[in-house]
Amino acid sequence: MRRLVKPLIGVLGVLPLVWLTFAVLTGRTSANPAEDIILTTGIWSLRFLLASLAITPLRRLTGWNVLIQYRRMLGLFAFFYACVHLAGYLAFDRFFAFDEVFADLAKRPFITAGMVAFALMVPLAITSTRGWIRSLGRRWQLLHRLVYVSAIAAVIHYLWKVKADSTLPLRYALLLAVLLGLRLWWLRRRLPRPAAAAPAR
Ligand code: HEM
Repeated sequence: MRRLVKPLIGVLGVLPLVWLTFAVLTGRTSANPAEDIILTTGIWSLRFLLASLAITPLRRLTGWNVLIQYRRMLGLFAFFYACVHLAGYLAFDRFFAFDEVFADLAKRPFITAGMVAFALMVPLAITSTRGWIRSLGRRWQLLHRLVYVSAIAAVIHYLWKVKADSTLPLRYALLLAVLLGLRLWWLRRRLPRPAAAAPAR
């Protein structure tokens, strides 16, 4: 099963990029292919990020512990699409004028939120190897909680980017709220209840 699912996720993971490249090369994009590249890679990065966050709740709800094997792959695809997204922004939006990038960071809150989301993904991607998991021990889990902050920043980035109709970003925000809410709920149930007050004599 594992031998089949991993390559399948691998193929599904590169499909958006293959389709995007094909669309750009064959003129199947909108009138603004650069924008299409940035938007498509941004949304796929968010989708993979949320998919990786969905693994733990799905595992708990279904009891399918094998799902955990696919979390890293999904997270790495999120990072991969975020890298292409950032490269697209730097190349097509800012033509590698880094003074403009810094001005954007200071003046456009949605860009700041995107950068925060991306910056937090970097240590997660670097430490996703078996070697790092082993050498960081318990600290690895602590570090990887940054994924929650990264996902919140990514959803805020999307919400602030959209000016007219916020329906779609709100749906992603709702999904993230459910995924994080379930974790909080399970965490609360695991914590010991405060001792009942001693009865008055
Ligand atoms: C590295 C920092 C980032 C920068 C500079 C950046 C920049 C941008 C820009 C300029 C757009 C609007 C493109 C346009 O309207 O033409 C955009 C849209 C978007 N970005 Fe980012 N982004 C960053 C990180 C991220 C990350 C990490 C994610 C997801 C995890 C993400 C998800 C999105 C989404 C979902 C959209 C909207 C897509 C749509 O409307 O269909 N971005 N980003």
